[in-house]
Amino acid sequence: MKKTILTGLRPTGNLHLGHYFGACKNYIKMQDDYDFYLEIADVQALTDNFNHPEKVRFNVFEITKDLLAIGLDPNKVNFFIQSKIPEIAELTVFYSNLVTVSRLERNPTVKSEISQKKELFGANGESITYGFLGYPVSQAADITAFHGELVPVGDDQLPLLEQCREIVRKFNSIYGETLVEPEQVLSSTTRVKGLDGNEKMGKSLGNAIYLVDDAETIHKKVMGAVTDPKKIRKDEPANPDICMVYYYHQLVSPKKQVEKVCQECKLGSRGCVQCKKELIAAMNLFLMPIQERRKYYEQQPEIVQKILDEGTEKARKKASEQMKKVKHAMKIDY
Ligand code: TRP
Ligand code: SF4
Repeated sequence: MKKTILTGLRPTGNLHLGHYFGACKNYIKMQDDYDFYLEIADVQALTDNFNHPEKVRFNVFEITKDLLAIGLDPNKVNFFIQSKIPEIAELTVFYSNLVTVSRLERNPTVKSEISQKKELFGANGESITYGFLGYPVSQAADITAFHGELVPVGDDQLPLLEQCREIVRKFNSIYGETLVEPEQVLSSTTRVKGLDGNEKMGKSLGNAIYLVDDAETIHKKVMGAVTDPKKIRKDEPANPDICMVYYYHQLVSPKKQVEKVCQECKLGSRGCVQCKKELIAAMNLFLMPIQERRKYYEQQPEIVQKILDEGTEKARKKASEQMKKVKHAMKIDY
């Protein structure tokens, strides 16, 4: 029997290259070998977007189209919407007894998110909501509702996975062996830096290239990318290792071209404008098949809806079986 993999994404915006190279590219390989559940985590997205329900709703469909566009096969991956699985909400309530408030407050991922969302949660997190503080509990429910054994996520999600394992251990020790402790699937890919050289690519940082970006947008963004600041004239040698244009060539250009860029940059036989133009061409070539596939789904929204409906139905079935076991263990199977 295939092992179960579960992962989730918050529908708050389109996928960018950071998502793609940092996580989603791995899903494509995994879809053949696992029983794959892919959650569109709208309930989690609402924890810090409760005042923007239309944004979350819109992005449920946007992100699903992005995921289909990169080559995930709906016959292999169960796409589902979190809010349509009531078992997740139920489990969240049960698990909330098994975790202390101070433990949640110490969760490094939650802590750093609170400090980034001052306008919502206050300068010192004094206006933190019960829902946001508790979303790791809900994420533990996401994973365990499907008997998720493997969770492919980036390093930033490790504290959430650890929190989930703790809840599982506590549950099993009190109510008897019922749940499995999920393991992280280490991604072979790395975190992608932003066009500005920032360690992280993100929407709020304004340094991201999106899978849906058109040629004009790509042109503008790449032209503004950070290069070796010491290079002023085009025939001056420079250091490609501190240049974001070279960094992106490594992601999307053929190996030979990458070597050429590196050599010529070091020799001073390559100008930055030319170098950027070549990156723009390579980037467009990379995005073309993704955007072609996306167009297919954009033109037929009913297919996207059907994929979500069918995936959700399968997910619901799996979660309700798991729920029976949980309620039995907790002696609430009246
Ligand atoms: N917290 C994840 C993120 O912000 C999204 C997510 C929701 C998730 N549920 C999950 C990830 C379950 C892994 C497993 O990207
Ligand atoms: Fe960067 Fe290319 Fe300019 Fe070198 S030539 S600094 S790699 S943009």
